[in-house]
Amino acid sequence: MALMEDVVALCKRRGFIFPGSDIYGGLSNTWDYGPYGSQLKKNIMDFWWKTFVENRDDMIGLDSGILMNPRVWEASGHVANFADPLMDCKKCNERVRADKLVEEKTGENVDGKPDEEIFNIVMDNKLVCPACGELDWTMPRAFNLMFKTYQGVIEEEAEQIFLRPETAQGIFVNFKNILDSSRVRLPFGVGQVGKGFRNEITPGNFIYRTREFEMMEIEYFVRSDQVDEYFEQWVKASKDFFVAIGVREEHLRVRQHDPDELSHYSTKTVDLEYQFPFGWGELQGIAHRGDYDLSQHIKYSGARLEYRDPVTNEVFVPHVIEPSWGLTRALLTVLLDAYEEEELPDGEKRTVMHFDPKIAPVQIAVFPLTNKLDEEARKVYEALKKFFRCEFDTSGAIGKRYRRQDEIGTPFCVTFDFDSLEDGAVTVRDRDSMEQERVKMKELEEYFNSKLVH
Ligand code: GAP
Repeated sequence: MALMEDVVALCKRRGFIFPGSDIYGGLSNTWDYGPYGSQLKKNIMDFWWKTFVENRDDMIGLDSGILMNPRVWEASGHVANFADPLMDCKKCNERVRADKLVEEKTGENVDGKPDEEIFNIVMDNKLVCPACGELDWTMPRAFNLMFKTYQGVIEEEAEQIFLRPETAQGIFVNFKNILDSSRVRLPFGVGQVGKGFRNEITPGNFIYRTREFEMMEIEYFVRSDQVDEYFEQWVKASKDFFVAIGVREEHLRVRQHDPDELSHYSTKTVDLEYQFPFGWGELQGIAHRGDYDLSQHIKYSGARLEYRDPVTNEVFVPHVIEPSWGLTRALLTVLLDAYEEEELPDGEKRTVMHFDPKIAPVQIAVFPLTNKLDEEARKVYEALKKFFRCEFDTSGAIGKRYRRQDEIGTPFCVTFDFDSLEDGAVTVRDRDSMEQERVKMKELEEYFNSKLVH
């Protein structure tokens, strides 16, 4: 876990991620995204949107609300089924997820098993409380993960509603609006990015599992006989996405869910997993939700959420394939995969974040060699800033400025020195190789276009 600790420390030191409500002693497992973290998160999200929504003719976007009519969650099955088995230690009051405790200690998957059976497995295997070491558990009980809140000005009359645990339902309830207002034809997908909230029993591992997080979801509607073909395409496209943002392929694997592990809405789910410092963990799920959601909303709302084939006039409820990414989890993956501590030939150490240039929060840092060159160097900065994410850095010795930019993962540093006044060129230093070359200022835009724009 040393890597995780190093990344958490760097995130705070360099303004990627801060503990939430820090000056009030924090609020457990909440995190705020600082200047570089918010930019990095936005860059991942923008690249996702460009790849899957803007660049594809079969995709459209949506931005639906976090607060929805509570009937949505009855129809979707979340009120009845979106629960984890919670168990309390009677000795020290430690609260754990019984299924996770069993899985961690025995490797057995108990998803879908009755509470008594899980309890017996815990007791038979003598799975003691991780906090106090005693074997004195309450019977596991289903704990619904949806956050409740109230809508309305007068508290006594307020209506109980939920914070959405997934963005997906916003897409299903807008299915008819989308069909009526756009010219989409099957197969087509709807993408959306937004916050999800889950009252997780055991959040942790930094931003891996939090109660408030961001998701990037696609509901891809197909005819039932097209499911297999498009499911495989989405598994491949999902993996390609992570490789494109710089995650090493050898740190990724695809794992299919066992039948008893499936969510209440799914008939087939594949997880894309990443090798986190604490082991393989889910990065993204790709599920075949069948016609479950649309059919449930038809039943509960009475709305006609069907599709009419424009050629055959056949009317039916499409099936849906759902690739669902955790944006904040993707960000953690990018941070972990980019982190490196290097020993340089002169014995000095440097920490470097090898972000892919297209998502790096800062793409080019411009330095004047001394303060006397500020004005001229700033002209270079102003010119590059129109096209790339740039930072102007004047503080400290050049070596120190390089170290700082390496830690925030800036792919290129440009130094304006006294020779620049004579030869119209600047020194460009590459973050990864640390090689330096002189580039004419008038050629800089083209030079960086070839290095930074894909
Ligand atoms: N609509 C499908 C759905 O919600 P999920 O597997 O429960 O599926 C999708 O969630 C993705 O959201 C996960 O693969 C993960 O990346 C992310 N995610 C889920 N719970 C999370 C949490 N508590 N904290 C951070 N990310 C989470």
